[in-house]
Amino acid sequence: MKIPKEFLEKIKVRDIMNTDIVRLKPYQDMRSIQEIMRIKRIDAVPIVDDLENLMGLVTVENVISALVQGDLNAPCEKYMVRDVKCLSPEDSLYDALIKFRQFRFGRFPVVNNDGKVLGLLGTKDIVLNLVDREDIEMGVKEEVKEEILVLEYPVMGGDFALAGMASSNVKKALQQIGISPEILRRVAIVTYEAEMNIVIHAYRGVLRVRVSPEYIEIVAEDEGPGIPDIELAMQPGYSTAPDNIREMGFGAGMGLPNIKNSSDELYIDSIVGRGTKVYSKIYLKRNRNV
Ligand SMILES: Nc1ncnc2c1ncn2[C@@H]1O[C@H](COP(=O)(O)OP(=O)(O)OP(=O)(O)O)[C@@H](O)[C@H]1O
Ligand SMILES: [Mg+2]
Repeated sequence: MKIPKEFLEKIKVRDIMNTDIVRLKPYQDMRSIQEIMRIKRIDAVPIVDDLENLMGLVTVENVISALVQGDLNAPCEKYMVRDVKCLSPEDSLYDALIKFRQFRFGRFPVVNNDGKVLGLLGTKDIVLNLVDREDIEMGVKEEVKEEILVLEYPVMGGDFALAGMASSNVKKALQQIGISPEILRRVAIVTYEAEMNIVIHAYRGVLRVRVSPEYIEIVAEDEGPGIPDIELAMQPGYSTAPDNIREMGFGAGMGLPNIKNSSDELYIDSIVGRGTKVYSKIYLKRNRNV
């Protein structure tokens, strides 16, 4: 059976596009985009400016380019496609199919006359929106288990130019997968303070964040001098930060106490002369006990 052209011309892109999409800013790193794509099972992310105007599109291909260059920490504006082929919301499905045939892309951003991104139209959206969604929902037996998001960023000791980047990238990525503002605030405190402790007190380290359906796990592990007395280091106001660090506004001795207050579970392991590992867990489903 073939669908007649008149039928395709009656359907507007506006009515079948997917509006529940992820939009990101040009400074978002490729690593977290890769993870967001995996978790959300999407293959393209429109990149927009502060006014939601389309600046580019990051596709799986761009992620692979960054991956082979070993450059996943780069901001996406370095790898995104800038000359993006788009659809207008007023285009018909027939117009859209011509573009699909012509360019052979899997999806197009839908952009209005002002350049604002309204949604995406992929081949999957076309198929799913031409049938009654409710009929399909009825057939779904059980939800597929939620995926686990894993983010990992290197952190360099003494590098104040990049300090805070890892935690801010984590924050943006978690925002995109819909983590609540309250949890986000606590994760941001833990990751920022742990990252800054590596920058200020250690030589190098890594910040790892794992998001499961039940909790968020944050691990900050470093090679550094280690902490001789963890109990003492946990005291509010205790700091060994030298004067030049204090002049930069750090060294109040509040990092570890803040990490403790924002965590549901906290373990710190440290070997003097070797390094430190901070492990924090924040529950997503209630029962906060700290
Ligand atoms: N990763 C680490 N490696 C070595 N020592 C650390 C590390 N993290 C913390 N410390 C030690 O524990 C002390 C207390 O840490 P905390 O984060 O509470 O305060 P701070 O970093 O000195 O100041 P603030 O975090 O308020 O800027 C530090 O001064 C340092 O001596
Ligand atoms: Mg600190």
